[in-house]
Amino acid sequence: MANVVVVGAQWGDEGKGKIVDWLSERADVIARFQGGHNAGHTLVIDGKVYKLNALPSGVVRGGKLSVIGNGVVLDPWHLVSEIAKIREQGVTITPETLMIAENTPLIMPYHGELDRAREAQVAVGKIGTTGRGIGPCYEDKVGRRVIRVADLADQATLELRVDRALVHHNALRAGLGLEPVDRDALIAALNAIAGEILQYAAPVWKVMNELRRAGKRILFEGAQGSLLDIDFGTYPYVTSSNVIAGQAATGVGLGPNAIDFVLGIVKAYTTRVGEGPFPTELHDADGERLGTRGHEFGTVTGRKRRCGWFDAALVRQTCAISGINGIALTKLDVLDGFETIKICTGYMLDGQALDYLPTAADQQARCTPVYEEIEGWSESTEGARSWADLPGAAIKYVRRVEELIGCPVAMLSTSPERDDTILVTDPFED
Ligand code: IMP
Repeated sequence: MANVVVVGAQWGDEGKGKIVDWLSERADVIARFQGGHNAGHTLVIDGKVYKLNALPSGVVRGGKLSVIGNGVVLDPWHLVSEIAKIREQGVTITPETLMIAENTPLIMPYHGELDRAREAQVAVGKIGTTGRGIGPCYEDKVGRRVIRVADLADQATLELRVDRALVHHNALRAGLGLEPVDRDALIAALNAIAGEILQYAAPVWKVMNELRRAGKRILFEGAQGSLLDIDFGTYPYVTSSNVIAGQAATGVGLGPNAIDFVLGIVKAYTTRVGEGPFPTELHDADGERLGTRGHEFGTVTGRKRRCGWFDAALVRQTCAISGINGIALTKLDVLDGFETIKICTGYMLDGQALDYLPTAADQQARCTPVYEEIEGWSESTEGARSWADLPGAAIKYVRRVEELIGCPVAMLSTSPERDDTILVTDPFED
């Protein structure tokens, strides 16, 4: 039985929601392994739109187990309200269908406040975060002062954890001109929500190993995109977790041999939200057109996404780092009607040709894209369900993308509707 990891292979927003939903129908277990409610996953099922942030996409499908792994950072108040909203849409969520790792770090209100206060210090340059406290919570995890799900079960431990965290945070807050945290109010708020969260708490590493041994199909649902990875992304304009496929194992407590297929989600052009380098960004009518046709607005913050041509050099790089076996190419229809389409194949830096994006920030900023031009197509590709439905020039574009990134297309998505998909390889059956 194959277990599949889905990761974004660009800067996030590649259209993972639809692909994950398609795969989750075939899976028994759907697990989130990193990130938090900075993610915005939109699922359209039978015309009904579901918007998820922290919950794994499997929750909207009956009979599946959804897992929030230890690699995630979890805002308990946000989770409770997300569960309430999704229940209002008729979805059933119980401790039998949702499991949260006991060792998952919790996002506190002071994490969000710190995130936003830092972003307001414009003098040192902002990252453009979602302001949801993701980075500060991961910092506390590594700094050994985070409050974890299991800590909610014991009053003495909880108070100790809060006191340890506040020694650090109140000092920081004083420096940023923020009021100290009201310790007793925080503990009361945590006690009030503890029962809601603890009903889902479990030793996820153990359950996942048992499920794997029992031959259950596991889908690891990545959030964000590889270029936002804390190690391999465009640092410091990144998120604070490892988002690449290797994290799937660590983020739930399985060994790396649990992963059989890595599916990279790749948009047929490039977008990015927030600050940071973006070599193929367009500031002209073509960029506007990609944004308008692609509805490129952030689902979490509503920000307009920056848009540009497809960057094959970057995707080649992320395919290598995540060990991507096949890609799901999304939003090809947004390119319909362009007379010519550009693909970035590499960069020029100080007169030298490069086939990858260098690590140093100043070099990234100086890299200029090398483009090749491909003939566009005037026909619509929206809703295509077989190769025969695609114009020849669109097929040529897809084949050229495959060649340049060194990875085959496993799936091609041609609209937000789940059936508008051309399947080449079923990752679970590969
Ligand atoms: P943070 O994850 O809120 O710390 O934000 C860090 C960077 O990651 C910012 O550039 C965000 O715009 C970006 N980011 C975080 N989550 C997502 C996502 O789900 N899609 C796209 N970009 C994201």
